[in-house]
Amino acid sequence: MQFQAQWIRPSEGIGDVCPVFRKEIQTSGKIKSAELYITALGVYAAALNGRRVGKYVLAPGWTAYDHRLQYQQYDVTDMLGEENKLEITVGKGWYASPMPGWNESADKLRRKNRKTAAFAELHITYDNGEKEIYATDGSWQWAESPIRFSEIYDGEICDATVQPEIWKPVCTAESPTDRLIPQEGEEIREKETVMAKAVFTTPAGETVVDFGQEVTGYVEISVNAHTDDRIRFQHGEVLDRDGNFYRDNYRSAKAETVYICSEGKQTWHPTLTFFGFRYIKLLEFPGEAKPENFRAIVVYSDIRQSGRIRCGRPEIDQLISNIFWGQKSNFLDVPTDCPQRDERLGWTGDAQVFVKTAGYNFDVEKFFRKWLRDLKADQRPDGSVGQVIPDYMPEEAPSAAWGDAAVICPWQIYETYGNEEVLREQFESMKKWVDYITSATKKQYLWTGGVHFGDWLGLDAPSGSYKGSSREDFIASAFYACSTELVIKAGRVIGADVSGYERLYRNIVETFRKEYPEYHTQTEHILAIRFGLAEDPRRTADALADMIWRDGIQMRTGFVGTPYLLHVLSDYGHKDLAYSLLLRREYPSWLYSVDKGATTIWEHWDGIMENGEFWSTDMNSFNHYAYGSVADWLYEKAAGIMPALPGFEKAVICPHPDKRMDWMDAEIDTRHGKIRSYWSCEKDTVRYEIWADMPVTVVIDGKETELDPGRYTFWGRAE
Ligand code: BGC
Repeated sequence: MQFQAQWIRPSEGIGDVCPVFRKEIQTSGKIKSAELYITALGVYAAALNGRRVGKYVLAPGWTAYDHRLQYQQYDVTDMLGEENKLEITVGKGWYASPMPGWNESADKLRRKNRKTAAFAELHITYDNGEKEIYATDGSWQWAESPIRFSEIYDGEICDATVQPEIWKPVCTAESPTDRLIPQEGEEIREKETVMAKAVFTTPAGETVVDFGQEVTGYVEISVNAHTDDRIRFQHGEVLDRDGNFYRDNYRSAKAETVYICSEGKQTWHPTLTFFGFRYIKLLEFPGEAKPENFRAIVVYSDIRQSGRIRCGRPEIDQLISNIFWGQKSNFLDVPTDCPQRDERLGWTGDAQVFVKTAGYNFDVEKFFRKWLRDLKADQRPDGSVGQVIPDYMPEEAPSAAWGDAAVICPWQIYETYGNEEVLREQFESMKKWVDYITSATKKQYLWTGGVHFGDWLGLDAPSGSYKGSSREDFIASAFYACSTELVIKAGRVIGADVSGYERLYRNIVETFRKEYPEYHTQTEHILAIRFGLAEDPRRTADALADMIWRDGIQMRTGFVGTPYLLHVLSDYGHKDLAYSLLLRREYPSWLYSVDKGATTIWEHWDGIMENGEFWSTDMNSFNHYAYGSVADWLYEKAAGIMPALPGFEKAVICPHPDKRMDWMDAEIDTRHGKIRSYWSCEKDTVRYEIWADMPVTVVIDGKETELDPGRYTFWGRAE
């Protein structure tokens, strides 16, 4: 779209205060339609005649801003009268906040010093066909808004006693318009609300509000107060061993909300930032705080839930709830590692391990396609892919299993939704990543050298290290094979010539097998099996099972090995062991955190250790979705639902029942209708119920049956 608007900014420096821009507009006749187009360098909230425009919060969202900036289009026909006031408040958002919190790179400095700005056009069409356009230009005015400070990590300060009074002419600014693109992702919305469950005094004498669920969003406060009364609170995820408020794990993120009241009854919440939290600690509050004063507004991308899993074990149901909340908390336009500390970044490795689960739980096709375009836009000239996308750490080397998100995510989105477009769009980027590895390695047909995260947070890490014991070159080479194979598959789908990659793949497999005849860790076994590198996968799976037994039925895996662990066990006859790991309650296990009261997935298996102490202060998020990737095993193996053709045009149901679960019920809304698998263990038999809107191959006790869409009941053996 061709815009005539100009970027506008305040005509003088106002420090951290968020500006509000204003235009008074008189209409002249009966309005047939009116559209408002807006974007900002920063995040904006727009109001027309005092009413909020649209439901999008934190617009224009987060993209690779140096290349792509989304604008939004709102239908405002019903909001206009004769005399109108259009106001746009702009905060720093992801555009100008100092992200990430811990590094002081030149690029961060550049972004931190960026100036925010607004850009808008109101298009009015009258009944008589006449058209008018009101575009941001030198005729707009600006003033200081009540928002005195707003930033991603540190929070927001609002002074309700300040009303924009002194309006001054804006200055127009040179800023590129060539990178403006229409909204591509899902809108970020206020999706749910959670009422405060309790207000209590901790042993340390502090007043804390508990929402009972960790969420991402902000707290809305409703109070009856006097002018200049102050409300100030900090956000936290967990209480410490003594029951006191804890927030050291937010690191440098202040995550604080300050509200200076006006007179009387009032309700307010931050608008230009967000927090990850379950608790807030009140530092200042007028009078006695009650639960009814607080409501958590849960904010995430407007993704539609498409998957459901229930079973006969309440603790597994809680785990599933934690996985869903982990996804909701971290799908805020970009798939992020965590929503609370001074990161909240689009870590590529985390997205890659979770993408399959994400796509079953919710419809994330649009969400991922937008993020993958950001990945492509920020891909470096040598083909390498940043550790985070948008690439806020361009100075950092790419890591295996992180950069591979460039290939794994588009392929998985294709598998889940069956739309070839994502492959067409990403194919060049996918190839560039593989070509990058080819050019960067020290040893042909492997990926050796480089700086990697290894099996990040693997439990077999040497003391003092975050990286598990699996060899970095092994992991990097295994992912080289995986990505090359997926490039070949993707190329075949879209009819591209992949003969060069086929040769490369054969050479990688051959070289890998020579170089790594033995596997040393659980994760090395897992990758060798999962990526088709083990010459005898069954024997390798047996060896892995032996290793797990020897380790006391314990996983020793990290970010890289864990997502595939249960899959490779149940694929090669070790279903019972897979369930033993899933149902294990002692540390390390998925249920350990559930028993410790988790309401989201933890970054560390022992974020809170058995003695109640924290694992650490510097790397201890309680809302990291990565290990929630176990849900794709619940859908695909426990319930047995898998696509036989991309997008579930045809499905397979091959359930793996287990008496210890009693029963299980899972369903997915696919592009070809619903598919649901239920089983329940009854003495020596298992009853299976299957509902499929598409043709399905059902595999029960090793016997395959081809079925038309419909509902079926089967009986099978209980093992
Ligand atoms: C993030 C992770 C990420 C990792 C990479 C951490 O700080 O929170 O989830 O993948 O760094 O090593």
